[in-house]
Amino acid sequence: MSIQITPLTGSVGGLVEGVNLNEPINPDTFDVLHRAFLEHGVLVYRGQFLQPGAHVEFARLWGNPAQNNPLDPSVPGFPGLIQVTKIPKETASTEAWHSDSIYTSVPPKISILSAVVVPHGGDTMWCNQYVSYERLSPTMQRMLEGLRARFTGLRLARMRGIDQIPSAVHPIVRTHPETRRKALYVGHPDTAQQIEGMTVAESRPLLDFLYEHSTTPDNIYRHMWQAGDVVMWDNRCTMHYAVHDYGEAERVLNRITLEGEVPV
Ligand code: OGA
Ligand code: MN
Repeated sequence: MSIQITPLTGSVGGLVEGVNLNEPINPDTFDVLHRAFLEHGVLVYRGQFLQPGAHVEFARLWGNPAQNNPLDPSVPGFPGLIQVTKIPKETASTEAWHSDSIYTSVPPKISILSAVVVPHGGDTMWCNQYVSYERLSPTMQRMLEGLRARFTGLRLARMRGIDQIPSAVHPIVRTHPETRRKALYVGHPDTAQQIEGMTVAESRPLLDFLYEHSTTPDNIYRHMWQAGDVVMWDNRCTMHYAVHDYGEAERVLNRITLEGEVPV
């Protein structure tokens, strides 16, 4: 069967059909997937029921698996594969727009989720951060040039009950190392704390504006999970948001992230 890529919205996401991720991917197929990934930022594969070993193999085509937080539970026998399980809504650090581990100095470039058990609800949304940058006025784009912000893992620290809050400083406009396109690199107010060299009073409204501006409905794909789905995304040019509307219901997704680059 030949591989087919269909855009999922006018802004972000592509549906991939005609590929079985449980089998080895040949270089030609990988090339098609790679180009589609750079174009759409998010790729959706339905009905894969990806086996843990195949998940790791597939991920290795894209890069080096990132070091996982030892506090995250992994799939038995597969230390690189994290189990994303239901978390209480009150502490769900993923229920806010974010780019994964932005509060670390070298954040992961790609994340790959495979749905094992899905509730009614529990959708995930993604937004396109190239679009967020490109639809700013030229004057605002010029103003943001060279600005850097401090990002913290405050929500995660709160969720885990740890006092040590990780943090890192990154440019708020980054150039994607592969596409060379500029993307807005921001996050929810708990993570994007302050622009370097500005007061909190100066930077807060700007960061809040950029966050709101990034996440309007016309810049979003919302994925309604089915068991067997695989979704991979580019943390360098998208943000995502895990909707927590499923109460106490079971939700299990396997996840692997790939080492990224220092954002520039
Ligand atoms: C993540 C994440 C989304 C989800 O694993 O980084 O944000 O829907 N998960 O669980
Ligand atoms: Mn995430």
